[in-house]
Amino acid sequence: MTSSGTNPGGPAGVAAWELLLPAVSAPARARGRALQEALRQAVRSGRLAPGTRLPSSRDLAADLGVSRGLVTEAYEQLTAEGYLRSGRGAGTWVGGAVRAARTRALDLAPRSLDARADFVPGTPDLSLFPRAAWGAAHRSLLADLAHHDLGYPDPRGLPRLRTALAGLLTRRRGVVADPERIVVVSGVAQASTLLGSVLHARGIRAVGVEDPGSPQHGDLYGSAGVGTVPLPLDDEGPAMGPLRRSGVRALVTTPAHQFPTGLACSARRRAELLDWARRVDGFLFEDDYDGDFRYDRAPVGALQGLDPERVVYAGSVSKSLAPGLRLGWLLVPEALAGEVVERKRTMDLGHPIVDQALFARFVERGDYDRQLRRCQRAYRERRDVLAAALAEHFPGTRLTGIAAGLHLIADLPARHGPEERFLARMSAAGVAVRTLTAYRHTCVGGDAAGGEGGVRLVLGYAHLPPARIRAGVRLMAEAARDGRSS
Ligand SMILES: Cc1ncc(COP(=O)(O)O)c(C=O)c1O
Repeated sequence: MTSSGTNPGGPAGVAAWELLLPAVSAPARARGRALQEALRQAVRSGRLAPGTRLPSSRDLAADLGVSRGLVTEAYEQLTAEGYLRSGRGAGTWVGGAVRAARTRALDLAPRSLDARADFVPGTPDLSLFPRAAWGAAHRSLLADLAHHDLGYPDPRGLPRLRTALAGLLTRRRGVVADPERIVVVSGVAQASTLLGSVLHARGIRAVGVEDPGSPQHGDLYGSAGVGTVPLPLDDEGPAMGPLRRSGVRALVTTPAHQFPTGLACSARRRAELLDWARRVDGFLFEDDYDGDFRYDRAPVGALQGLDPERVVYAGSVSKSLAPGLRLGWLLVPEALAGEVVERKRTMDLGHPIVDQALFARFVERGDYDRQLRRCQRAYRERRDVLAAALAEHFPGTRLTGIAAGLHLIADLPARHGPEERFLARMSAAGVAVRTLTAYRHTCVGGDAAGGEGGVRLVLGYAHLPPARIRAGVRLMAEAARDGRSS
């Protein structure tokens, strides 16, 4: 290599041309395009920083062993696209318009495929997805759909699906559901960004969130420009004192099965929360993410049923069918309905029609209830298997949040702490596991996250067949023991 790029505004001498070499070994026909793509990537990734001066086309062609025409063409193309800039007599340099993508590890797909045991919560058993029934519904649906059904949908969602959902949610979750107030969305996630955006347009810049709680809430509302105020829990639900003092007028809450502690919000606290919302003229956002699964008694009805004008209710099929379907619903109070529907319209012109019609059919035919019953049976068995395995391998463990949902909380005896050491042992043994601390926001004063020094695990079980649960707990116990004996 004889050339090196120089950055006139900073330290000179960025020898980055090696990263173009793989493009040069592309077949002759594809070499030009490969060179252009390699240059684009180098700029996008920040390896060629803005201002970096490129070698002359003659020098670079000589260095890479390609024709000068190929390099000239690449420079011209990328200059036209805005990646590079050039000036008469001034050569070619990297433009400032492109910003390197910021990469941050997303915890959206936390399954670690190479973990020997994986108790990370959040996913149902995807092998229980009813492929045959879904496939049959899909085929018959396509045969029935009229051409005009394939036009842009009502931004609230297909009337047929909203009617089916109103029946389903009234029956199963005790909500007050008027099909006119239902908006079909792509999951609780989109429901949150829609609401965040509506609040932002109303000048509201912060919502309260539960601490510990789902990291998704902060990310989603934050993406709409609405910050989150972490608020502690007590043993009845969100603690009222800190909520009242916080000054927020909206609270995101998971009353059926608090995420992640598994606490069910008490009847008294529900009444207090609603009273608070009325006093501040605010709203409660009920995230009913796993409200369908309750094992030891009838499901706790949704908060929305107590005051549909103060509670925005959101749910989805992510825990009952599959998160990849991206299908959910929002029940909105009258005061927000127009703004939410308008925001949904400007966001994507409505939810995909085939998915909506398919799910409507699935609900109407009782297939969805069948699926919920099937999952309910499987998950209850798995919960019991996990509880028994913990009692055998981690005697003295206290379990909470076990009455519902897809995960439970296990307080291990103090001898397994401190937490960092326990997690290091698990990681070394290939066990993917989360502690409650991982779901703490930065708030101080909450006591629901457990005593200092102990290990409080959030164990997802729904995605694991019983044999894998038993083997996983055994592995966890061996790792904990080996660590202690060494
Ligand atoms: C508590 C909670 N709410 C909402 C979501 C997002 O749900 P959806 O897939 O319906 O967008 C998640 C995702 O894991 C979650 O954990």
